[in-house]
Amino acid sequence: MNILVIGNGGREHALIWKIAQSPYVERIFCAPGNGGIAELATCVQIDVTDLKGLTQFAVREKIDLTVAGPELPLTLGVVDAFRREGLVVFGPRRDAAILEGSKTFTKDFLAKYNIPSAAYRNFDDPEEAVRYIHDTPPPYVLKADGLAAGKGVIICRNRNEAFQGIDDIMKTRKFGEAGKRLVIEEFMTGEEASILAVTDGERFVTLPPAQDHKAVFEGDKGPNTGGMGAYAPAPVVDERLLEQIKTTIIQPTIDGMKAEDRLYQGVLYAGLMITAEGPKVVEFNCRFGDPEIQAILPLMKTDIVDLMMEVADGKLKPLEPEISHDSCICVVMASGGYPGSYQKDKVILGLEDVRDQDVMVFHAGTKRSGDQTVTSGGRVLGVTATGRTFLQAREKAYQAVGKITFDGAYYRRDIGHRALKLRSEG
Ligand code: AMP
Ligand code: GLY
Repeated sequence: MNILVIGNGGREHALIWKIAQSPYVERIFCAPGNGGIAELATCVQIDVTDLKGLTQFAVREKIDLTVAGPELPLTLGVVDAFRREGLVVFGPRRDAAILEGSKTFTKDFLAKYNIPSAAYRNFDDPEEAVRYIHDTPPPYVLKADGLAAGKGVIICRNRNEAFQGIDDIMKTRKFGEAGKRLVIEEFMTGEEASILAVTDGERFVTLPPAQDHKAVFEGDKGPNTGGMGAYAPAPVVDERLLEQIKTTIIQPTIDGMKAEDRLYQGVLYAGLMITAEGPKVVEFNCRFGDPEIQAILPLMKTDIVDLMMEVADGKLKPLEPEISHDSCICVVMASGGYPGSYQKDKVILGLEDVRDQDVMVFHAGTKRSGDQTVTSGGRVLGVTATGRTFLQAREKAYQAVGKITFDGAYYRRDIGHRALKLRSEG
């Protein structure tokens, strides 16, 4: 088979690393790819939003399966465009990807189908949002309706912060058109977890529960990023809780989308808050989580091409994927300054010194420059390790991180701190 992966991050590198292990695969292409992906796939310079360029390429190269990594092409309708050309593609169509593309849609959907989530109100008018804040006690969670690269959520402890947030999102349009509409929701407390379900629109299977670390600084301080590290399985979601999540959240969502005539196929990523009243939806994403998937795929024994083909054909086998009993952790190395401004083109040294067979260095923001690999983005590498125990995996990952350097490299030293705490308490 010829496979095309759309995207250029650590998620896409991990997917291609896994796809390359499938005996079905002959050639792998990535549009546009990065410095690490170039070692496993042919990178083609087509932008992820260039739907015409992507479909033309897939027709010309006789691509048998396309996987769209990021949310942007999915919400633009890349799956619809590919299907119109008779091409096989893994991911939700445009009217289903709205679960990530519009938070106001999703909140109304969750309410309609009685799926647990934070209490909320949607607004198109900033003055109305301001009046609501006057009438409601803090804290508040403000969310721009549309895509904002994981940065469109503002947590406000008091009214003044909320007024400022409404101004930033709806008037100054800090997140562009994404801020045309606004959700204000109740602040939930608890531990977060990411559940990735793979679905053909009716049946689904789940991947090992993962936990991301969104804040840039240790102790979960500072602004949110795309994710500074992840690990799986996350002990916060035990077997019983996973069953509850499946029956109260995942299945009703898939069924509800079908009932709305928005058949949802691909990955349904449920970002959850495990509250005292049980698991509640924080957000949905219409794609594999990044960095979560970097910490999930090394545990997966099942052939991912098989799984994705079943979904694309709408015939998912009701067999849970085969998962190893190991633990996996991914530590993100980022450019100093991220998620604010940062410098690029820093030479990355030490990549060849990481030789442990249990360690994978997935590239996110890198590119080749002559015979060197240099930084080209905020999140640069996902240093990922597996181990028989969580502690072993963690030690190996940080050992590898210690061997890699680039000017201004920054990483959190506390990835997995909740799992560590749980262990010391348990
Ligand atoms: P989102 O982009 O919707 O996942 O939100 C980004 C982050 O903001 C989440 O990972 C949570 O840490 C936090 N967050 C979002 N909504 C809420 C909420 N209702 N209560 C508490 N924290 C939230
Ligand atoms: N790691 C969070 C996300 O993929 O949105």
